[in-house]
Amino acid sequence: MRQVVMRELRPQMNYLEELSQPPAELKSLLDQARHFSDELNKSQISLSHHEASLVANFLKLNKAKTVVEIGALTGFSALYWAWAVGPEGAVWTLEKDAAHAQKCREIAEKAKVSLNLSIHVVEGDAEVTLNASAGHGIPKTVDAVFIDGNKAAYGKYLDWALAHTQSGSVIIADNVFLWGGVWGDQNSGASPKQIEVMKSVNQILMDPNQFLSFMIPTAEGLLLAVRK
Ligand SMILES: C[S@@+](CC[C@H](N)C(=O)[O-])C[C@H]1O[C@@H](n2cnc3c(N)ncnc32)[C@H](O)[C@@H]1O
Repeated sequence: MRQVVMRELRPQMNYLEELSQPPAELKSLLDQARHFSDELNKSQISLSHHEASLVANFLKLNKAKTVVEIGALTGFSALYWAWAVGPEGAVWTLEKDAAHAQKCREIAEKAKVSLNLSIHVVEGDAEVTLNASAGHGIPKTVDAVFIDGNKAAYGKYLDWALAHTQSGSVIIADNVFLWGGVWGDQNSGASPKQIEVMKSVNQILMDPNQFLSFMIPTAEGLLLAVRK
């Protein structure tokens, strides 16, 4: 959730964020991940506690144990997914930016030592690393894919997710409103390519013949879908 948007958030969203309590055992690591993203001046592109706990609880309800995340930043959301899957599960989080990946590795190591949670950081352009997913230890079929990377590549990420999930698996995408681009807001700042890709991803994930879908009107738009 962007800080810019935070200032414009409807009061009910502020209220939700105030009410959202992170899991007590995760609080200190979440604070550290947030601190790292503050240092990088990137906290505005990280999920809110409310959004992350909504997705984490969705993963729990769907009994996900293996999660691939595209777009790690400093590990804030990956911590929530690792908490949701528990010590017997695992999260692979893909990150292109070397500084972000380094901070995320620090968080992942601490999560392993203090909570026995497994977060594997895969550094590089996700379009490349996904093509070599087996080489990065990612299982051929995973229980959940969380898409939060390069907006113009969401279609490619979805292709990978469809090839590596099965009935009952979960596919989630953030920023699906594309700052208004998908409904034609001329001030969205989204490129024509991003708009075309996001509209197509939304149409696929909202197809009731293929998915049980939930598009949540957060500030950024959050789409959760379970494969039929
Ligand atoms: C919106 S942020 C992720 C926020 C994170 N999920 C959270 O909630 O804390 C997007 C991240 O994707 C990364 N990214 C952008 N393009 C990418 C690509 N092509 N491959 C992998 N990561 C990418 C960015 O460097 C950034 O760290």
